[in-house]
Amino acid sequence: MFKKARFGVLGCGNISKIHIQGIMNTEEAELAAVCDTNKENLKEYVETYGVRAFNDYSEMLKQDDIDVICICTPSGLHPLQTIMAAEAKKHVICEKPLSFDVSDIDRMIESCKDNGVLLAAIFPWRMSPVMQYVKCFIDEGGLGKLSLCSAHIKPFRAQEYYDSASWRGTWAMDGGGVLMNQGIHTIDLLQWFAGPAASLYAKCDNVLRDIEVEDTAVTVLHFKNGAMGVIEASTTAYKTPDTLHLHGEKGTIVLTAGEITNLSLIDQEEVEIPAFEPFNVIPDGHRMQIRNMALAVLEGMPIEVTGEDGRHGLEIILGTYESERTKQEVQLT
Ligand SMILES: NC(=O)c1ccc[n+]([C@@H]2O[C@H](COP(=O)([O-])OP(=O)(O)OC[C@H]3O[C@@H](n4cnc5c(N)ncnc54)[C@H](O)[C@@H]3O)[C@@H](O)[C@H]2O)c1
Repeated sequence: MFKKARFGVLGCGNISKIHIQGIMNTEEAELAAVCDTNKENLKEYVETYGVRAFNDYSEMLKQDDIDVICICTPSGLHPLQTIMAAEAKKHVICEKPLSFDVSDIDRMIESCKDNGVLLAAIFPWRMSPVMQYVKCFIDEGGLGKLSLCSAHIKPFRAQEYYDSASWRGTWAMDGGGVLMNQGIHTIDLLQWFAGPAASLYAKCDNVLRDIEVEDTAVTVLHFKNGAMGVIEASTTAYKTPDTLHLHGEKGTIVLTAGEITNLSLIDQEEVEIPAFEPFNVIPDGHRMQIRNMALAVLEGMPIEVTGEDGRHGLEIILGTYESERTKQEVQLT
């Protein structure tokens, strides 16, 4: 039998199901262990897969037959748990956000480098054939010089969602609201297409939800390439898909809920949009990132979404919070 990369999953709540499904559906991967401080959450995986279960993360890290740790715990735990994995010589796939602090991300990246292990940040939208097409189209100059690139982010979450786990909607463990938790995916795409960002000015507030962090935010961006843009985001907006509007001197691309709904070029009557492979961001994106890690461990394939990639969107989000706090324009590095 050919060799498989062996995965341990840390944190067995909602998103762990998608990681485990991704591992089970990847030929080159194997589920070696699961770990959660809450024993109840391990039961299902032990019963279904007969997998080893741990309550203590340090114990899981001592196992020699684990190559990769998938970190699926509340966001505030990601930096420490990534560094612990790296020091135990385990590769890491870490859920978003990697951290709430750019210097923490730098420490995570450094620790993985120093220990000779790989770090992947979960941004499943980057695996989408549509998004990869748009990225190539823009990078190859298809829209010419970019002028206005904006993200409209409307992932509705009722108060019950925030009340469903004590860490949700808190600064300490969620690190922020609609931008840090839900919006980070679309912000990552916006900056991947049009970034990096040079400066921003922003306002945010908790308008309708009873939480510490923002349910609504508006950020005005200036990108390093000269384009401008707006991020508007709210968990109070009901039944409205996320959109990205990308405009340049040669034309426009609009993405709605992950599909191209407008590709119009000024000097071309009709633009043919290719037929893309079907892609459901969850679970396909996670499965593809898990396979990418397995092939990186087994065959040295490059990691598609690295720790460094996880840093840029975070800078925009943290800059937004700083601008709200200081009422000033914020310069990004
Ligand atoms: N990529 C995506 O689309 C996506 C979607 C949802 C959540 N997430 C991210 O995944 C992470 C988890 O979110 P969730 O919705 O699954 O949360 P959750 O609350 O459902 O699950 C978290 C799990 O971690 C366990 N846990 C807490 N502290 C622990 C510790 N010290 N050691 C071991 N286990 C511990 C909890 O008992 C719980 O089972 C968050 O960072 C979130 O931002 C990403």
